Amino acid sequence: MQEQLFLLNQISDELNKDLDLDNMLQRVIDLTVTHFQATSGSIMLFDEKRRVTKYILQLHNISSDQANRILGQVLGEGFAGWVLEHGRGDVIVDTQEDDRWYNYPNQPYTTRSVVAAPLTRKNRILGLVTIVDQEPRHFRQEDLPLLNAIAWQAAIALENAQLFYQTELERAKLSAIINGSKDAVIVTQGDDNKVQLLNPAARSILQVTTENWQNHPLQTISDLNGLLETVIAQAQDNEEVRLPDGRTMQSNVVDVPNVGRLTLMHDISPLKALDKMKTDFVLTFTHDLAAPLAAIKGFVELMKMDGFLSDQQLEDLGAIQLSVNQMRTLISDLQELTRLETLKNMQRCDIVLNSTLQKSFEAFQPIAEVKKIQLSLDSCADILTTFGNPALVSRAIENLVENAIKYTGPKGTVSIRLSSNGENALIIVNDTGLGIATEKLPNIFDKFYRAHTPGENEIPGSGLGLSIVKTIAERHGGKIWVESELNVGSTFYLALPLQYENEMGD
Ligand SMILES: Nc1ncnc2c1ncn2[C@@H]1O[C@H](COP(=O)(O)OP(=O)(O)OP(=O)(O)O)[C@@H](O)[C@H]1O
Ligand SMILES: [Mg+2]
Repeated sequence: MQEQLFLLNQISDELNKDLDLDNMLQRVIDLTVTHFQATSGSIMLFDEKRRVTKYILQLHNISSDQANRILGQVLGEGFAGWVLEHGRGDVIVDTQEDDRWYNYPNQPYTTRSVVAAPLTRKNRILGLVTIVDQEPRHFRQEDLPLLNAIAWQAAIALENAQLFYQTELERAKLSAIINGSKDAVIVTQGDDNKVQLLNPAARSILQVTTENWQNHPLQTISDLNGLLETVIAQAQDNEEVRLPDGRTMQSNVVDVPNVGRLTLMHDISPLKALDKMKTDFVLTFTHDLAAPLAAIKGFVELMKMDGFLSDQQLEDLGAIQLSVNQMRTLISDLQELTRLETLKNMQRCDIVLNSTLQKSFEAFQPIAEVKKIQLSLDSCADILTTFGNPALVSRAIENLVENAIKYTGPKGTVSIRLSSNGENALIIVNDTGLGIATEKLPNIFDKFYRAHTPGENEIPGSGLGLSIVKTIAERHGGKIWVESELNVGSTFYLALPLQYENEMGD
């Protein structure tokens, strides 16, 4: 008994000492064979499909080719197969009297007695430990509990080793991804931004030359203090950062619980260059188109004044005039959108939304009347103020009301409402018009997107109005969204941050 406990203790020590599986199993088999004063022993391990993944023999006297052939046989018709099938160990007192034993050829000795036990974890057999002897009756049934205990310990160690290996593998994969990423990955902790992780891209961007950055405040390991302030100290999300080498990076900052502040920086210089090309093109194109269009408009007016034109000719000139006007509107919308997108600092002041809405309401009243649409305004009892550019905010509201009237038939209603949710002022424009099909809603704010198929009764427009509204909303820290049902109507919501009196300064 004492000896058995000593052996189990020794095996437990071996299993805890080493995470190298082969060494660990070799030592277990050596100790067990010595304890039983047996001839030899082996451990084999299986994968989920019961294929042998490892075969460790105490005596290395057969080639791996031979071993593989033998394994197939013993697992098929031999004792190992029996143990696997029954899920428990057993003793063969004399192999010559037990047909479960498969005697493989060219053995240096003849096995006469055997004890074997499965390595089991959570009902799955992970492996098998087998101890053999040349003499019959060397093992007795009483030996089985000890081998079971050894197999049980080995199975736990095996599971731990596999978990450790898997965790290591995942960690190595993750670290390869982070280190290989062209995006900068920075993890800092605490108010002084102690660096926990910097991948090579981050080290290059922040011009970190020291190897000794781990756990040092970020400000002490990089010279780019201005850059750091923007990105890390102020923790600005989606901030664009210009690097001294001319590149533009976009930063994303997230606070990850138990990890720290994670900052990702992505190089958007190619996109910026493309965007600039597009802006330059639109500005040149619209500028160059404006002059010939003004000339066409002027000449059409002159021709109309001539007085020698037939009715048909006058009608055709009217059509030309309409098209020219549409093109002029398109050009000015495009110019406005481009200006809005590139505008760095816009003039801002407090805007009382109640009066802005009142003015828009009054401006659209006659247009609604002509279309026999009932236009109403439900202003808020409280005075709601936002901080922004009055012309742009009016433009956004007007675009929404214009659409509501444009896409609503006679006898329909359009209502404008002002309310607040404590943080934002909400301008709600509802109509009982054409509505928008659900699948088209995601594109409604895209440039040039028009949701209604052109046809005979096409309503003129360039598909820029809502992109202008969206850009204005975003430039004011606000949001625009829509709810709509085809042939029922639409409701557009424009949220703008509320400006409270105490923020306005005294
Ligand atoms: N209130 C509405 N009801 C139904 N459809 C709408 C409404 N508002 C917008 N839409 C749909 O969304 C599309 C995009 O609107 P947007 O205002 O951007 O362009 P537009 O009205 O076609 O042209 P414009 O540039 O002259 O405003 C419209 O073409 C229309 O199909
Ligand atoms: Mg429009």
